[in-house]
Amino acid sequence: MNILMISSECVPYVKVGGLADVVGTLPKYLKKQGHDVRIIIPKYRSIDGVKYNLETLPYRLKVRVGKEQESFRIKTCLLDDNIPVYFIENMRYFNRLGIYGDDSGIGYGDNRERYIFFSKASIEAVKAIMFRPDIIHCHDWHTGIIPAYLKTTHSNDGFFWKTSSVYTIHNIAYQGSFDAETTLPLAGFSWEDYKSDKLEFYNTFNFMKAGLAYADIISTVSPTYAKEIQTVSAGNGMEVVIKTRKEDVYGILNGIDYSYWNPRTDKNLKANYSLNNIENKSVCKKDLQEKCGFASDDNVFVVGCVSRFDNQKGFDFIMDVIRKTQHLNIQFIVLGSGDRAIRDGMLYLKSIYPKKISVLNDYNESLAHQIYAGSDAFLMPSRFEPCGLSQIISLAYGTVPIVNKTGGLADTIRDFSKSADGNGFVFDFYAGESLVDKVNVAYNTFNNKNLWSKVVANAFASNYSWDNSVLEYENMYNTALNRRIAYTIYK
Ligand code: ADP
Ligand code: GLC
Repeated sequence: MNILMISSECVPYVKVGGLADVVGTLPKYLKKQGHDVRIIIPKYRSIDGVKYNLETLPYRLKVRVGKEQESFRIKTCLLDDNIPVYFIENMRYFNRLGIYGDDSGIGYGDNRERYIFFSKASIEAVKAIMFRPDIIHCHDWHTGIIPAYLKTTHSNDGFFWKTSSVYTIHNIAYQGSFDAETTLPLAGFSWEDYKSDKLEFYNTFNFMKAGLAYADIISTVSPTYAKEIQTVSAGNGMEVVIKTRKEDVYGILNGIDYSYWNPRTDKNLKANYSLNNIENKSVCKKDLQEKCGFASDDNVFVVGCVSRFDNQKGFDFIMDVIRKTQHLNIQFIVLGSGDRAIRDGMLYLKSIYPKKISVLNDYNESLAHQIYAGSDAFLMPSRFEPCGLSQIISLAYGTVPIVNKTGGLADTIRDFSKSADGNGFVFDFYAGESLVDKVNVAYNTFNNKNLWSKVVANAFASNYSWDNSVLEYENMYNTALNRRIAYTIYK
């Protein structure tokens, strides 16, 4: 199959969250299955053309955004395993310091134009490079209008006659909702398609709704989240749309790249380790404690957190737990960036309890690895979590996750206090359980070395590799292909 991924993020070039990990990793596994996979992302300013050896292709292309003609170029390089990546370069939209917004945490005012441009440019780019996709796989709101273009403005475009589209929701909280009156002409859709079963969504133009209405297949990143988003409490208003298409909705768990997230070989760590030489995990713990200015003591329960500062991630629970566990022999280490109010709340707690909490307001890949390795437990009490990669990464480092029972967290973490094969600690906020109680249970378990070594061994033994999920993706792509073929025959 020819598979084209179109996304706003992809590791190692640009990453804000787990979307980048997925788009930069899944293609390698699809390639191993024998598919020709390619990726298109924007050429943000932060992507270093020299470091990645970007080559400029000899096309000068244009697309229309509203009344304006926007020109762009295509740059390219190879991701590992010879996967071609194409970068859409346009100075006006992508030559800026931030990805989605500036330092203040506020999104750019023209994000709507930016991703309309990117979507249209991606369609033109794939034609220019003559890569005829069987599957166009679009991710999150930024690319939601692409399946809609394929079925409207491009429905008679012979280049795409055998192309099916798949739309994946990584986070339903970000939908790209704008006023219809100005957005529809900007994007170049016809008012005839502005209907409730197509582009219209509660009197707005909503990028995600466009993807959900027009893609041949819809997916999200865990089986539990696939069910949750069909309910009022987690659907963010989109539940009815998704329920209408429930036969076409897949929930496929993300994996992680175990060659990258590997404590045996990780170059960011003071010492490498595995279950067999777990003593070296203590070397990483000591190093981390020193870096944070803490007393280095192996008997202290070190709880780490690496996260976007975002309401999704349950920082209200985290702040509560920090206040209520000060009597324990515990240290919290939090690395995060994003929302200013959360940052300020966390820094305030640090100022009150400087010996017990370290807050690093940064986006720092190397430090993230050191926290995954040097902590005993990993805190991830998200209010909702489509999949979550951080808890899976923690497992790979033998660091025990403490999570809320929601979305992908519920699919990957089993509560050790309820079952001997548990690989973490799970509280069910929506059933009235408390994170503070769960952290206490984890703390008591940590102080029983025998029990703790069991849960750590269970964490190491957990395997959420892409090897399994890639087969589900293949199966889903095949369904999308058959659907398109049937559609073409019976049209
Ligand atoms: P989300 O995509 O919602 O942010 P995930 O758990 O799926 O959550 O993925 C988060 C990814 O981003 C992980 O790879 C995590 O290590 C990384 N990450 C998050 N915040 C930071 C940070 N401040 N510094 C470095 N890496 C981070
Ligand atoms: C989103 C979700 C996260 C998921 C990631 C990759 O950012 O918040 O749960 O793991 O996308 O799919």
